[in-house]
Amino acid sequence: TTNHLRHLESMATHPSGAGKIPRLNAVILGESLASEEDDLVFPSHDFSQQAHVPSPQKYLEMYNRSIVDPGGFWSDIASEFYWKEKWGQQVYSENLDVTKGKIKIEWFKGGITNICYNCLDKNVESGNGDKVALHWEGNEPDVDGSLTYRQLFEKVCQLANFLKDNGVKKGDTVIIYLPMLMELPITMLACARIGAIHSVVFAGYSAESLLQRIMDCKPKIVVTCNAVKRGKKVLNLKEIVDAALSESSQNGISVDSCLTYENESAMKKEDTKWQKGRDIWWQDVVPKYPTTCDVVWVDAEDPLFLLYTSGSTGKPKGVLHTTGGYMIYTATTFKYAFDYKESDVYWCTADCGWITGHSYVTYGPLLNGATVILYEGYVTRYSRKSLRVLGSVGEPINPSAWRWFFNVVGDSRCPISDTWWQTETGGFMITPLPGAWAQKPGSATFPFFGVEPVIVDEKGKEIEGECSGYLCVKSSWPGAFRTLYGDHDRYETTYFKPFPGYYFSGDGCSRDKNGYYWLTGRVDDVINVSGHRIGTAEVESALVSHPQCAEAAVVGVEHEVKGQGIYAFVTLVEGVPYSEDLRKSLVLVVRNQIGAFAAPDRIHWAPSLPKTRSGKIMRRILRKIASRQLDELGDISTLADPSVVDQLIALADS
Ligand code: WTA
Repeated sequence: TTNHLRHLESMATHPSGAGKIPRLNAVILGESLASEEDDLVFPSHDFSQQAHVPSPQKYLEMYNRSIVDPGGFWSDIASEFYWKEKWGQQVYSENLDVTKGKIKIEWFKGGITNICYNCLDKNVESGNGDKVALHWEGNEPDVDGSLTYRQLFEKVCQLANFLKDNGVKKGDTVIIYLPMLMELPITMLACARIGAIHSVVFAGYSAESLLQRIMDCKPKIVVTCNAVKRGKKVLNLKEIVDAALSESSQNGISVDSCLTYENESAMKKEDTKWQKGRDIWWQDVVPKYPTTCDVVWVDAEDPLFLLYTSGSTGKPKGVLHTTGGYMIYTATTFKYAFDYKESDVYWCTADCGWITGHSYVTYGPLLNGATVILYEGYVTRYSRKSLRVLGSVGEPINPSAWRWFFNVVGDSRCPISDTWWQTETGGFMITPLPGAWAQKPGSATFPFFGVEPVIVDEKGKEIEGECSGYLCVKSSWPGAFRTLYGDHDRYETTYFKPFPGYYFSGDGCSRDKNGYYWLTGRVDDVINVSGHRIGTAEVESALVSHPQCAEAAVVGVEHEVKGQGIYAFVTLVEGVPYSEDLRKSLVLVVRNQIGAFAAPDRIHWAPSLPKTRSGKIMRRILRKIASRQLDELGDISTLADPSVVDQLIALADS
């Protein structure tokens, strides 16, 4: 058994595995825990008793089965969903080892289903039609609304009919560039209903970024709205789409139609620029379509969506998820990690432009028949009495932030599910099950069912017990991504070649003596700014596109509010003087090419950059300079010109 299992077994030996008095439990649980009693936060007895997984024993029983018999474990769960035809003999097949051939992951292959059907029709038919599916809170205090499962079903069907009528077929892609209006999940579901592949582009991305994605996935239709309010500011989204579409058609990719929702509270129709023949007002056409629409049945392994995410090099990667495995995995992780109950109202603050908004605003909750809150602007009224479980995701949460979240937001009553996962993993991978075991603030705790995390050293050798290293996963799980759109080679190179035999996450991780996992952040050149994943390479290429920038190197630095901030070292073209205006225009170039969220926090003038003799930038040194850890620069003798370092330090605060 691995370490985390041994530890849980020891927790399991006492009657409830949890209790009201941490001290008592710590004593019961033995020496090793007693010495760390302050780090343990136990779920209350009442909470555990009603939980889906009430104890370590129950978890161990389920976890063991999920590892020993993944096919049996997951097909039992899958059987609770609607399948037009059952999957074939083999529940799954996989090869995660590059030395053995092409990387392949398949789950429920041959099974015929539809995720929109399972989210909507199934709930309506089982008597949940009048239950609220979506509650929407708008940017303006009094602008809100809600849709029951039946109403949502009807709206999705109308849009699905519109899409079909406009030539969208199974396997076509649709780009969705919308803020958090109900039309966003409606469009995702409508695509899924007819077997089209949706690709949501976060509505904070620039025209340039949108263009890049249009060029890559060649959508049949783009769905957007005319504008959105951010606080008091009006953002003209349609203009951004127009710019991207005219540029793409000049590059040979022309998009037939642009369906535009009139977001009245931000901008009126009359004020919106319009291209006849291409642009269509949502409100003019969609409501005229019938409110039922036949489902297009798809194979479990047919693609469901593409979501672009940043990597450490090159252009963004189109992470591709398929239908069946993703459906089962998001539904199951949602149910267990949040200990979901039918009467719960569930709110996730994530935007559907990110994976969290796919798996845990839209699909996971709706598959469970949950009532979901969608949030566009600020919350005016609140009482925290009804809170049961809190969640956290996207970056390491430090113990003091964890305590604040627990004590202040959750009134010291609600367990926190600090979930570790990625766009690529589709759903939670390492996560607390809130009723099952004691938590340690800042640790994502233990693996979800069916997930075999391993920590490897730099040679790719698994390390046991208390250790730190690179976080990998040993075998496939249903929610895993299957490829990078149009680039299976890059998929293999990025994720499976670094440590043959494993999926490599790009994250560093340690495991403590009780088997708890602690995520320590990216080990590659990806920065995590307020949960937005940004590749340093993307920021660098935006900077060097500025005519006066000769070279740029970007690193992440600790940031009090954002987790990590973006710190850019910039070398100017010879003869160009430094100036405040130039600094501003460099920041602007990043805003324009990627989006406001990727704007560098600091520009550090660099007459030259520290490089090895072979010309490789030594980011290790730049990171130390950026965080002013000047006594930890380490060995700089391998630099082609070590004096560069002093020069940079001298310019640090200019
Ligand atoms: C980081 C977000 C620490 C990690 C769902 C990962 C976390 C990246 C956690 C993926 C967590 C996510 N603790 N770090 N609980 N969850 N991360 O693709 O570095 O936007 O690789 O998916 O976020 O970001 P992505």
